[in-house]
Amino acid sequence: MSNYHIKHLEEYYQVYRKSVRNPEVFWEEIAEEHFLWRKKWDKVLSWDFKKPKVKWFEGAELNITENCIDRHLYTRGDKTAIIFEPNNKEDEAEHITYKQLHERVCRFANVLLDKGIKKGDRVCIYLPMIPELAIATLACARIGAIHSVVFAGFSSTALATRINDSECKMVITSDGSYRGPKTIDLKGIVDEALEDCTTIESVLVAKRINSDVQMKADRDYWLQPLLDDAYSDCVPEIMKAEDPLFILYTSGSTGKPKGMVHTTAGYMVYTAYTFKNVFQYTENDVYWCTADIGWITGHSYIVYGPLCNGATTVMFEGVPSYPDFGRFWEIVEKHKVNQFYTAPTAIRALAKEGIDHLEKHNLSSIKVLGTVGEPINEEAWHWYDDNVGKKKAPIVDTWWQTETGGIMISPIAFATPTKPTYATLPFIGVQPALMDEKGTEIKGNQVDGRLCIKFPWPSMARTIWGNHQRYKETYFSAYDNMYFTGDGALRDEVGYYRITGRVDDVIIVSGHNLGTAPIEDAINEHPAVAESAIVGFPHDVKGNALYGYVTLKETGESRNHDNLRKEINQLITEQIGPIAKLNKIQFTNGLPKTRSGKIMRRILRKIACNETDQLGDTSTLLNPEVVQDIMDNVL
Ligand code: WT7
Repeated sequence: MSNYHIKHLEEYYQVYRKSVRNPEVFWEEIAEEHFLWRKKWDKVLSWDFKKPKVKWFEGAELNITENCIDRHLYTRGDKTAIIFEPNNKEDEAEHITYKQLHERVCRFANVLLDKGIKKGDRVCIYLPMIPELAIATLACARIGAIHSVVFAGFSSTALATRINDSECKMVITSDGSYRGPKTIDLKGIVDEALEDCTTIESVLVAKRINSDVQMKADRDYWLQPLLDDAYSDCVPEIMKAEDPLFILYTSGSTGKPKGMVHTTAGYMVYTAYTFKNVFQYTENDVYWCTADIGWITGHSYIVYGPLCNGATTVMFEGVPSYPDFGRFWEIVEKHKVNQFYTAPTAIRALAKEGIDHLEKHNLSSIKVLGTVGEPINEEAWHWYDDNVGKKKAPIVDTWWQTETGGIMISPIAFATPTKPTYATLPFIGVQPALMDEKGTEIKGNQVDGRLCIKFPWPSMARTIWGNHQRYKETYFSAYDNMYFTGDGALRDEVGYYRITGRVDDVIIVSGHNLGTAPIEDAINEHPAVAESAIVGFPHDVKGNALYGYVTLKETGESRNHDNLRKEINQLITEQIGPIAKLNKIQFTNGLPKTRSGKIMRRILRKIACNETDQLGDTSTLLNPEVVQDIMDNVL
């Protein structure tokens, strides 16, 4: 039996047991047999959740791009690595073979070297979903530079914050991007961001929309001529197992985004192994994950996991609604997609349009369906199962996080019987625990609690860039000797997990993780605003939408409320991006506070969700009178 490829439920249980009884022996065997190492490790694992310090495969040396590209060149050189499907469906799709990918990554890596980028330098990548995004990412990894991909929907302020936090030396961007019928001026956003950045030495600009952009002398360079002049081979930098591979920012409970740091060997082993098993990818399958590489889903399951397995991975530049809501299904048919991985919010948006679009396309290639990003509701689950999978394709509901690097709780397609809305069983090597509020583990089945992980797994983030203390406080302080996920979960009678949602101040909107604090910070910058509080409320497509309670300064009270609402959303768009805009804004005379001055978001959440019969005890509030007033004026 090969532990690398699990095919049946009994096998899952057998391998799972082995992986938790003797994790080091287990992961050593996986690492040994399926990856290319320049030097083997001295020690498989050392860990201490109190510090917290975790090291996997210490002493090993490797380069992840040799694993993702070079080692496939003999066996799969002419196989398609990446299928690029452009925004405009009239434009031709691009098929990039492993050989071509090798050459393009090498050329790009040489350009980086030529511009003075060295091992350990941070490079910010701010690109649309075009091949250069995957190639730039891999080129950084080739030379040991740490990539920090920033989703190209983020605003210039958000981009500047991220560039400054990790002191990036270079930005890689494009003249612009296509998004459905619109174009976006990415280079203009970068220029604006760089007014507040001092560490950037050069900007590489890919041509995508052929717009007229300003190029700053001695800073900005068109990418293509540099690539044309670059040498087509590049010796990979040999990295240590625990050298950082990338930083990816995620929002948290304070205004400052957290730069999660992922390292090389453990991340590679775990993303490759989960990809293979969760999706049951087999040679010659075509796999498509609809996420953007700007999120962890794209890092792990468009780029690294699939390429490490020599897979064919689809990159789609556009949106599900352009030119119409049939676009996803058209792409599935066109490229004969076998594994299709998307988010509940996309499923709900498509379900709303009915099944006419689906019926126009042949979806018979689909073998496995996946979902990620937020809890999937029962209705969306069944719509996906009935209409896309035709009840024949298992749905893998994959629970994980930016911080976990890879899938943590999920069915293994065809092996694990699925259950609507359940992420089901922990993946191999993952040891979940449900905790009560007092910090005691809740054992047994048919229970619910706060979801923690008791034991390290290879792809966990190792720290927050520049702030290890915050890493410790956020993830390792709530419960002794445990990683705390921030999610609530329940375990059913057979041990299946269902994720019930965030238990902290993070709200998942359309699958995007949004901290309330950064949004409140943005609103509070408005000169008329005294203070604000953001909560989530249910939304039929987005899952959650944002409800803002805003108290105005006396000077602002005479202002027109509709104009103020527009200005507030404009501020949020500028500071964070359009994804964080508020659906509803209620102006209040005050916000409910505890005696220590903390805003009671719990009460505000109940009001926004129309659950005022469950407000609980409000007598401990400093100002209980505002609650009735807020309820009377709810939107
Ligand atoms: C949060 C992490 C890595 C995936 C992309 C989002 C929620 C994620 C599921 C799921 C229920 C889910 C959790 C988690 N989440 N997948 N299958 N079922 N909830 O990554 O932005 O770091 O967000 O997304 O609340 O903590 P992220």
